[in-house]
Amino acid sequence: MKILFFAILITVLLGSCNTTKKKEYAVKTDNGEQMLTHPGKKLMETNCYVCHNPSASQENMIAPPMVAVKRHYISEKTTKESFISEMQNWIKNPNETGSKMPGAVKRFGVMPKTPYPDETIKQIADYIFDNDIEQPEWFEQHLNEEKGMGMGKGKGKGKGMMNGKGMQKKQTSINNQGLSYEELGLKYALATKAELGKNLMGTMQKKGTVAAVEFCNIKAYPLTDSMSVTFNANIKRVSDKPRNPENQANSKELKHIETFKEVVKNNREPKPILEETNSKVMFYYPITTNSMCLQCHGTPNKELDSEAYKTIKALYPKDMAIGYNVNQVRGIWSITFNKE
Ligand code: HEC
Ligand code: HEC
Repeated sequence: MKILFFAILITVLLGSCNTTKKKEYAVKTDNGEQMLTHPGKKLMETNCYVCHNPSASQENMIAPPMVAVKRHYISEKTTKESFISEMQNWIKNPNETGSKMPGAVKRFGVMPKTPYPDETIKQIADYIFDNDIEQPEWFEQHLNEEKGMGMGKGKGKGKGMMNGKGMQKKQTSINNQGLSYEELGLKYALATKAELGKNLMGTMQKKGTVAAVEFCNIKAYPLTDSMSVTFNANIKRVSDKPRNPENQANSKELKHIETFKEVVKNNREPKPILEETNSKVMFYYPITTNSMCLQCHGTPNKELDSEAYKTIKALYPKDMAIGYNVNQVRGIWSITFNKE
């Protein structure tokens, strides 16, 4: 997310994007970073981007990108109020007959129902209506293909949905040269998160929570390991309250977890912690919860249903990873890589 955020920031600074971002959202934080602080942006990124992720490739999408949703929901005549209430209605009851995106339903299955507060959806919809939404790099071509097939209806509000070219360039630059250790660590963490998330959400959607628990049990470790090999780094997810005892944080990691908990509790944007030796870099970054996570890490018989909890208990008799709420520190990325 952070990388995307920098990418957007750079685009804005270079002025290569007809941005309609409103001045009043731009504030300076104490470390001098510029932040876009419409509350809906953050809410959308934490709650919706697990599935509506603009940086997933077209094959790896598990839901349409948010910019596509926007196009189908907003026409020239749509008012903000009606858009907000349509979003709220959809979230309360996602169903095939109520869908404005039958093609997406066919490809991905109906969006899983997850309870979000009305106010959260209002903020997200307000943000989407007024702002440019990041679009995946393949999206423009996809639109052209649709047009070619005579399906290019549903003209959106157009607000900058076709621009953001600078952003695309930045997103695709995957060589390591010129990245700071902090950026490199974030890249490893976000890529691993995307890999785990894609597989997890896909399984949840297609087969339900219980199957997804079993999937995590078998796959979380090997997936993380294979990303370690890809990046030639040691990538771990560790926690103070682990589900899998193998993921218990060591004493140094526990200290960093406490630090991140303070930051997150105070609603500040966490910054990675870096430690260096002569030859190695140790990178730490928090893993926070959204409402999706509570289906497996929430309170039993509340968000965590009893069937799923039974499976969890059977696989992890020593499980400590329950009782979480949204926006809490579930654990951290602990990543070690060589200096070059
Ligand atoms: C677990 C994955 C997942 C999450 C999380 C998720 N969505 Fe979706 N969403 C989907 C899928 C899959 C579709 C496409 C199928 C469909 O339209 O039902 C979709 C479609 C939609 C649509 C179009 C509905 C239609 O068919 O008319 C809207 C609007 C939407 N999502 C809003 C949101 C918002 C807002 C959030 C965050 C608060 C969110 N979604 C979070 C999976 C998800
Ligand atoms: C379908 C159930 C399920 C969902 C949803 C889920 N998890 Fe987990 N999670 C698990 C299981 C099972 C493990 C143990 C994996 C293993 O054996 O390595 C786990 C492990 C973890 C770990 C590693 C530390 C530990 O406790 O062993 C972290 C961190 C974590 N989950 C965070 C999250 C976050 C953040 C979300 C939401 C974005 C989430 N999980 C959603 C089932 C789930």
